[in-house]
Amino acid sequence: MNREDFPMLKQDIIYFDNGATTFKPKCVIDAMSEYYSNYCANAHRGDYEISYKVDLAYESARKKVADFINASRDEIVFTSGATESLNMIANGFFAPILEPGDEVLITLSEHASNVLPWFKLAKTNGIIVNYIELDSNLHVSMANLKKAITPHTRVISLAGLTNVVGDIRPLKEICEFAHSNNIFVVVDGAQSVAHTKTDVKAMDCDFLAFSAHKMCGPTGVGVLYGKSELLESIVPTNLGGGMNESFDSIEEVYLKDIPTRLEAGTPNIAGVIGLGAAVDYLSNIGMNEIELCLIKLKKYLVEKLVTIPHIKIINEECESGIVAFNVDGIFAQDVAYYLNKYHICVRAGNHCAKMLKNAIGVKNTVRISLYFYNTEKEIDKLVELLQDKNKILNEMI
Ligand code: ALA
Repeated sequence: MNREDFPMLKQDIIYFDNGATTFKPKCVIDAMSEYYSNYCANAHRGDYEISYKVDLAYESARKKVADFINASRDEIVFTSGATESLNMIANGFFAPILEPGDEVLITLSEHASNVLPWFKLAKTNGIIVNYIELDSNLHVSMANLKKAITPHTRVISLAGLTNVVGDIRPLKEICEFAHSNNIFVVVDGAQSVAHTKTDVKAMDCDFLAFSAHKMCGPTGVGVLYGKSELLESIVPTNLGGGMNESFDSIEEVYLKDIPTRLEAGTPNIAGVIGLGAAVDYLSNIGMNEIELCLIKLKKYLVEKLVTIPHIKIINEECESGIVAFNVDGIFAQDVAYYLNKYHICVRAGNHCAKMLKNAIGVKNTVRISLYFYNTEKEIDKLVELLQDKNKILNEMI
């Protein structure tokens, strides 16, 4: 779908590492280049024509992102990516309010950025990080979630769609249950926002973090969504220009309103404009369309892989574009190296979800992460190369 929009697809490669980052359509590259070439100025600081143009482009991108996830514009904070957003949520909102013994629930399949900030609060605030048990398909069930909750649970922090298992969490149900028990819900949307339709109001999560580069946008820019009354309470972790109204030598400091208060320093203006263009691009295709395309491509891939006796898939059951597997007796990285010889890009390893090994018993997997521009023909080529284990063994070094 839409392959002609992507300059990278003109090369002789098959790209199956979209969970790590996606390719960028020309309209995104052009929007950023247009900013640098024709109206390069700072945002929210100038009193001349091109600086007004920058302000308009920057704030219009905020509105586009807000509409994309059904939020209000003042609930969208631009960050450097999902990782920074999650760290701001943990350090700026939760660190001041969580007390020793308070519990944060995550799972063993979370990405590092939804684990390590909580581990830090375990050290600094004495909170306890506990785990919702995954079911036999490595999914989060409501039954297991309810089992994990105690009177001390204050936060549930989960990926909307995990980056190795690719399971989609029942977030609406989770939020409803959590809120009826006075528990906050944080969603790591790094994968889910790129792959499924996101509606923060319908879902009712408290915070959502995501990155532009996994959804056809540029690297180095991302989003922190928070319900406005919660964003109001975030203690800025970065202080500096742009976010303050005034300060003086007696150290009286007045800060701006949200979201600007949480965007200290010159922001990644080109990145934000590129993200706005990516949102337009994805909206034109339609997120429901994208989701269906990924489910179809994944089904096609799995149906072929399950017929190969030396391949073990770890996540046959998930409804997204991610397939993680191993070739019997061959190290995952060697499989990736072998595929690279045929210009096929896959990721191998633990994919930053380093606790997943405790749930699945294997440390490393080969991961195929699809996006809408992948094709059945590309999948056929991959499957053909995986058919013969001896060929892999002979050519992997
Ligand atoms: N989080 C990215 C991935 O899953 C880097 O590959």
